[in-house]
Amino acid sequence: MSEIFTGSFTQQEPIPEEAISAAMEVLRHGRLHRYNVAGDEAGETALLEREFADQMGAKYCLAVASGGYALATALRAVGVKHGDRVLTNAFTLAPVPGSIAAVGATPVYVDVSEDLTIDLEDLAAKADQAGVLMLSHMRGHLCDMDRLMEICNDAGITVIEDCAHTMGAAWNGTLSGRHGTVGCYSCQTYKHVNSGEGGLLITDNEEVAARAIILSGSYMLYGRHLAAPGSEVFERVKYETPNISGRMDNLRAAILRPQLRDLEVQVARWNERYREVETGVRGTPGLTVVVRPAAETYVGSSIQFLLLDWAADRVQEVLRRCAARGVELKWFGEPQPVAFTSRYDSWRYAETPSLPKSDRILAGIVDMRVPLTFSLEDCAQIARIIRAEVGAVFQGA
Ligand SMILES: Cc1ncc(COP(=O)(O)O)c(C=O)c1O
Repeated sequence: MSEIFTGSFTQQEPIPEEAISAAMEVLRHGRLHRYNVAGDEAGETALLEREFADQMGAKYCLAVASGGYALATALRAVGVKHGDRVLTNAFTLAPVPGSIAAVGATPVYVDVSEDLTIDLEDLAAKADQAGVLMLSHMRGHLCDMDRLMEICNDAGITVIEDCAHTMGAAWNGTLSGRHGTVGCYSCQTYKHVNSGEGGLLITDNEEVAARAIILSGSYMLYGRHLAAPGSEVFERVKYETPNISGRMDNLRAAILRPQLRDLEVQVARWNERYREVETGVRGTPGLTVVVRPAAETYVGSSIQFLLLDWAADRVQEVLRRCAARGVELKWFGEPQPVAFTSRYDSWRYAETPSLPKSDRILAGIVDMRVPLTFSLEDCAQIARIIRAEVGAVFQGA
């Protein structure tokens, strides 16, 4: 009898007790709005911003309503306007081109390479087409960030990093989010810290920080921020920056602060699980494991492997057989967007270029969540199931 996995791919861990107590305190005093503070109280949101800025080694931080909101705010804050073009990854998810569309700009898609990062040759070739790169570290894969920054600096491109999948990751020891002008993070349930919804934005650029804060809906209360530039910077931008409300509230901030203190421990736990799956599927005939470069410190909260150049119906057969044994896989070759999974050519609001290199790779990408509620034995079992089913389909069983 074949073994069947019975766990849930969407079940996260409970919110830690310390975070629950902090949330209860906010609920008891009732001051949920970030600017509703008593006496000399800083407020949970301002404290979260100060702590996250320090944790990331950034000067400024802004907490907002979602990761997608952080991306659109970053674009506006660096000066992207209606009608501009913005470079971005062909391999990413809906909120990334969505944030570009939100500011009335147009995405210019850059190819994905076989290691699932942005193709640096294609980026160099398209570098004269836009002044901003919205770089998605999709599914936690970091490209050679030294080379990417060299290309962008030479071309005068401002880099915004979408770190929705790389909170706590690093390239050559520099944290993801600290290479470009702005780093954006998501605190949504399926990411690395969980407040249901939420986003964080970091930068060292004082004007970008001041604009982002006003954009997020600070009214003239920006003086209550702890990880913000001085009032003279706000004076320069306050009358020309629109208020597009998307603030974080003190309840979510209270839930996030203890989780962020635990980030390193959680990253290590994700990586143990990732390696268990990776080891289990390595060497399966027909399956390519994605190489993780030595310079990359990653957060293995999901895993991808490639069924490169397989016919679509064979990949679908693998997915069907794995699903029948309780293993939920996603596929970036689906012709239509399914649940959270989509492709660059899913979106009709933007021009869809012909990207045959990306199409070949996307058609081979199989993707799986690795929640922390999985034990190492769960991960080993899942890997055995994938290995058996990929092997069976590959050998034509
Ligand atoms: C690659 C990527 N970027 C950004 C986001 C935006 O995050 P949020 O859901 O918090 O808006 C997501 C969310 O799924 C994502 O997958």
